[in-house]
Amino acid sequence: MPEVLVTGGAGYIGSHILCALAATGRRAVCIDNYSNSSPESLSRVERIAPGHVTAFTADIRDPDSVRRAIAGRDIDSVIHLAGLKAVGESVAFPERYQDNNVEGTRRLLEVLHGTPVRKFIFSSSATVYGLAEKMPVDETAPTGPQNPYGQTKLDVEHMLERLAAEDPSWRVINLRYFNPVGAHESGAIGEDPAGIPNNLMPFVCQVASGLRTELQVFGNDYPTRDGTGVRDFIHVLDLAEGHVAALEAIGRMPQGTVRAINLGTGQGYSVLELIAAFERVNGIRIPYRVASRRPGDIAACYANASRAREELGWRAKRGIEEMVRDAWGWQKANPRGYR
Ligand code: NAD
Ligand code: WQD
Repeated sequence: MPEVLVTGGAGYIGSHILCALAATGRRAVCIDNYSNSSPESLSRVERIAPGHVTAFTADIRDPDSVRRAIAGRDIDSVIHLAGLKAVGESVAFPERYQDNNVEGTRRLLEVLHGTPVRKFIFSSSATVYGLAEKMPVDETAPTGPQNPYGQTKLDVEHMLERLAAEDPSWRVINLRYFNPVGAHESGAIGEDPAGIPNNLMPFVCQVASGLRTELQVFGNDYPTRDGTGVRDFIHVLDLAEGHVAALEAIGRMPQGTVRAINLGTGQGYSVLELIAAFERVNGIRIPYRVASRRPGDIAACYANASRAREELGWRAKRGIEEMVRDAWGWQKANPRGYR
C-alpha cells in the first residue's frame, strides 16, 4: 500500500493521526519543522506503533527540504496539518500566519505537483464559520472567519478549490474540525501547549495537576443552558479516525472533487459541563472563577455531523467521559508535557 505524507505529524493532532493510520496498517512519512512540537512525540508514536512512521525534519515553506523527505518513496496522498494555530498570535502577527499557513501550503502544492500525490486532506477548522448563528452548523453555512488565523484556513480551502478546478486529477477534502480534546488512551501522547494554554481543556488539566491555581471561565452571561460557552468537543482519536475514513473515501470520489466536511460529534457541552465531567470522572476538584467574556468568542458552536456520516461512514464514538479521562491520563503521566 502506498504511504501517506503527514505534514505537521509531530503535533497534537498529527501524532494521533499517525497512530490511527498505523492501527489500520498504513505507513506514513511525517514531516515537521518542530516549531510547535517536539520529536519526542514521534518517539512515543514509535512505541505505540513500531515501524509505521518515517520522520523527516522539513519545513513546508522550504521546497528542497520537502523534496528530500519524499524522494524515492511511494506516496499517493497527503494529510496536511502543518501550520500555526494560535488565534491571539495571528491577530498580533497576521503576516506570520499568511506566510506559514497560506504561502507554506502553496509551496507544498508546488512540490507535490511533480509527484503522484493527488489526494489531499486538509486540516481546516470550524472557525471558518465565524459568527454563524444557526446551530448545529452544516457545511453549506456561509463562511466568515473573524481572525487572521481563521482567514488563513479559508484562504487555503479556496486555494485547493482553484487547484482542483484547474487540474481535476486532484481530489480534496477540507476537514473542518470542531474542538479536539483528550489524548491517546495509553497516556503516551497528548496536547503539549507552549506557555499558558489558550484552550480550555489543557488549562483545566494544568489546574488539575497543580501547575495553575484556578481556571477563569470566560463569561457566564451567554444565551446558553448555564450562561457559559457551548462547544462541540471531540476526542482527538475520533478526529484522527475521521482522517483514516476520509483517506478511504477520497479515492472513491470523482476526480476534481473538493468537499468540506465537518468533524464534530454534533453534541455541544458548556464550559461548566466540561468542568463537572472532569471532576466527576477524575475525582479532582477544578477551582474556577467567572471572568469577563473573551473577545471574539461566540456563545455556541457545534456541528451538524451528518455529511461525515453519510460520505465518510464515520461518526465519533467516544463521549465526554472518555475525553476528560484521557486528557487527564496524559497530563498526569506527563505533567510537563514532552519536556
Ligand atoms: P500543533 O501545533 O500541535 O501541530 C501543528 C504541527 O505543524 C506542529 O508539529 C508544528 O511544529 C508543525 N508546523 C508548523 N508550521 C510548520 C511548517 N512551516 N513546516 C513544517 N511543520 C510545521 O497543532 P494541532 O492542534 O495538532 O493542529 C494541527 C492542524 O489542525 C493545524 O493546521 C491547525 O490549524 C488545525 N486545527 C487545529 C484545531 C485545534 O483545536 N487543535 C482545530 C481546528 C484545526
Ligand atoms: C472553548 C470555550 C472559551 C479557556 C479555539 C479556536 C478555534 C479552534 C479551536 C483551531 C470558550 C472557554 C477557554 C479558558 C474558558 N482552533 N474558555 N477559559 O475558542 O472554541 O476554539 O480552538 O482551529 O479556531 O478559536 O476553544 O478551548 O479556547 O474555548 O472559559 O481558560 O472555553 O471562552 O467558550 P474555541 P477554546
